[in-house]
Amino acid sequence: MPRLMIVGGHRLLGRVKVSGSKNASLPVLAAALLCPGRCVIADVPELSDIAVMCQALTCLGARVQRAGGQVEVDASCVNTLELNDELTRRMRASNLVLGPLLARFGRAVVAYPGGCNIGSRPMNLHLKGLKMLGAEISERYGYIYATAERLVGAEIILDMPSVGATENLIMAAVHAAGVTVIKNAAREPEIVDLQNFLNAMGARVRGAGTDVIKIEGVERLEPARHTVIPDRIEAGTHMIAAAITRGDVCITNVIPEHVESLTAKLREAGVQVESGDDWIRVVAGGRPRAVDVRTLYYPGFPTDLQPQFMALMALAEGTSIISETIFENRFKHVSELRRMGADINLEGHTAIIKGVPRLSGAVVEASDLRAGAALVLAALAAENGSIIENVEHIDRGYEKLERKYNTLGARIMRVHS
Ligand code: UD1
Repeated sequence: MPRLMIVGGHRLLGRVKVSGSKNASLPVLAAALLCPGRCVIADVPELSDIAVMCQALTCLGARVQRAGGQVEVDASCVNTLELNDELTRRMRASNLVLGPLLARFGRAVVAYPGGCNIGSRPMNLHLKGLKMLGAEISERYGYIYATAERLVGAEIILDMPSVGATENLIMAAVHAAGVTVIKNAAREPEIVDLQNFLNAMGARVRGAGTDVIKIEGVERLEPARHTVIPDRIEAGTHMIAAAITRGDVCITNVIPEHVESLTAKLREAGVQVESGDDWIRVVAGGRPRAVDVRTLYYPGFPTDLQPQFMALMALAEGTSIISETIFENRFKHVSELRRMGADINLEGHTAIIKGVPRLSGAVVEASDLRAGAALVLAALAAENGSIIENVEHIDRGYEKLERKYNTLGARIMRVHS
């Protein structure tokens, strides 16, 4: 298993380019199942989660070719409508094939993804919505069986604005008879990106980015080309990396509006943030001030940046309170940050962080993707060397992370033993 060895204490200085968004690429790749022919998707990051989605499409019979950041999917020859648990266990988001398969073929069988390290993560909202569109759903032996002669547009009010459920339901509804309205829909930028790809294929989706999305069913879709948006969580991680190392970093290929909630919190903490059309510069001179954060659905502060922001607050002047409202078990990084000298107490879904002047290097374990990123940031700022175990979690979501940070002056080595 690879590990990262990090020698802390080096300011990050220079420019870093953000890769294409993982969370936008995944539904867009799944959406390529919606029609026969060759879809071309650019700026897809090279990550293990993307490889799992490509493997899922291949298992269903699609032809998938990858060259650099470009992925071509030809779903002309889909020959099975069943995805086994080997893939759904490796990545929850492989359940995003459910909506497109049902829309195009009227049938899909997908192994239940089960819980993960950050929470139980059920699929009840996906399934409830599909039933409202007229699908028959049964759950047997750990599999979801979905069938429908023809889906029929309906009004669906989501109990909570789930990103995955919104995406699955939009894709399911593209061929449904009549109009589907999804209310209390998730407003994340990745949903706008999916809408743009679907509309390029000939779908009629409106309203993504707001909490009401309307889908007018169409008979046919055509293959399309699409470039995915930059990864806002990667961008946010780099912004915090600059702040925690008291560095000066210009982050390029970013949509500043997508990280506004983080920008506001960094400024409140005394960190300097400037931005242009597609870049953000973060400059930090000393210790940040403690600020409180509550994770929320977009455009609120993203749960996917909560662990990284906690690493920053571990070094702040004063006491901050971070409340996690999206996932029930997203504090696994706390015990590891404590090993590095952080003073953090947990009370239910709230973490109370008393900032300390310095962290010290330690051997720590990444329990999930963003917890792993938080440990990398803490290690970059720590006084001496750290070893981060279970790096495969970090590889799920950050393309060339150590290469990018080493170019900025970090000392990170990947060790394969
Ligand atoms: C997506 C992101 C993930 C991010 C999360 C929240 C992808 C591939 N992943 O995950 O990085 O952390 O949004 O911003 O885009 N829920 C239910 N029932 C459901 C579905 C969800 O109760 O049927 C709950 C979940 O348990 C969770 C909350 O809703 O508490 C939000 O989950 P959701 O928005 O669905 O997250 P994902 O789409 O899985």
